[in-house]
Amino acid sequence: MAMWGGRFAEETDSLVRKFTESISYDWRLYPYDIAGSQAHATMLARQGIISQQDAETIVAGLEEIRKDIEKGDFQFKEELEDIHMNIESRLTERIGQAGARLHTGRSRNDQVATDERLYMRHEIDETHACIAALQRTLMDLAQTHATIIMPGFTHLQHAQPVLFAHHLLAYVEMLARDGERLMDCRRRVNRLPLGAGAIAGCTLPLDREFVAAQLGFEEVLRNSIDAVGDRDALAEMLSDLAITAMHLSRLCEDIILWFSQEFAFIELGDAFTTGSSLMPQKKNPDVAELSRGKTGRVYGHLMALLTTMKGLPLTYNRDMQEDKEGLFDAVDTVKLTLRTLAAMLKSLRPRGERMREAASDPSLMATDLAEWLVRHGVPFREAHHQVGHFVGWCQSHGKTLAEATLTEMQASMPSATEECLGLFDPQRSAAARNLTGGTAPEQVARQIAFWQKRLADEKIHK
Ligand code: ARG
Repeated sequence: MAMWGGRFAEETDSLVRKFTESISYDWRLYPYDIAGSQAHATMLARQGIISQQDAETIVAGLEEIRKDIEKGDFQFKEELEDIHMNIESRLTERIGQAGARLHTGRSRNDQVATDERLYMRHEIDETHACIAALQRTLMDLAQTHATIIMPGFTHLQHAQPVLFAHHLLAYVEMLARDGERLMDCRRRVNRLPLGAGAIAGCTLPLDREFVAAQLGFEEVLRNSIDAVGDRDALAEMLSDLAITAMHLSRLCEDIILWFSQEFAFIELGDAFTTGSSLMPQKKNPDVAELSRGKTGRVYGHLMALLTTMKGLPLTYNRDMQEDKEGLFDAVDTVKLTLRTLAAMLKSLRPRGERMREAASDPSLMATDLAEWLVRHGVPFREAHHQVGHFVGWCQSHGKTLAEATLTEMQASMPSATEECLGLFDPQRSAAARNLTGGTAPEQVARQIAFWQKRLADEKIHK
């Protein structure tokens, strides 16, 4: 008979047991379920609701169960539905009566919400560390190859020369915001549901603040209905993970393009690429492709949870049991992607000469020419038009911008001088963008120094 079986005359149908169980996946919550139960039992004794002796027996019994689970010596049972009842039932088997007192003043509704928050807090910290590690790898690459120039792209068309390091540092910035978002989410995750009971609180004199302090929660959730009835903390974490996955997917898309024969901007290590079962010559960027591909399932988990929640009346409904698999999978997927990408990036070798060659197309410096005219008094719109005319002239005469003579240039841009002929050097072009956030080597060096310090500080505070 189920633990809640008092009022039932018939056994649960075996199909229903299969249909309603969550132990096949929520067993992963065991460390958090045990920690929550230990704090709860300790509080019950402090409040005189159970004896000190019982509390100690419970805490020790739970410790034994933890060890059994870690050793693989614990038999999870489908008929016990979920992690909460599996642990409680085993505890009572082991320690008798005292175990039967553990669930005093508690419901699985506030219990599962507490377990999930402890799990998320832990995984937020883990993911945050994985993000920082990937940032460090990108930083190392940027630093090692600080002088390489490549074409920057808009619309996937050559735009302006940029430093390869500058491009990598853009991802460092994006990942930093991903980390910030997670840490911000952590503040809202780190609040205690326990004490809310099934929905309305408890007639026994529980000390929720004590339990919160024991478990490292910064606050106690103020409203019991809210505490058991919402899953927005999960939705928020999933949103954050979805954004991170989106960023990683874009990084991978860049890598896939750069690794193609058409770009040939980078090499990737053999250990991080795969071959074709048919074409012997192939070396494919499968890690980057799979990272891009896995983004879909992370988004999917966010959509699934939002959809599960959208029609639910307050408070707890069993629908909410569906919240866990997606969350676990999103966390596992994003963490593994972060780790694998960091490892892959360590094997990345930029082909600086190829990038430079691509960045040397003089039309990438057309903006430099327009801005030169602006500095010589031509209104920007007018300068833009003149340079556009010059570009068109060069194209129809089969010349690059750098091949035109000064006289030919002046036909479109009357105020052009000798100096303009020297503007078609990508190095010079990049160096001229010397303002905060710009791609000039001096600015990129500043950004590298900034991130070096920031990431080192973060390591110390960890
Ligand atoms: N396994 C359940 C879940 O994850 C635990 C809460 C069940 N509560 C209930 N009243 N049936 O949602």
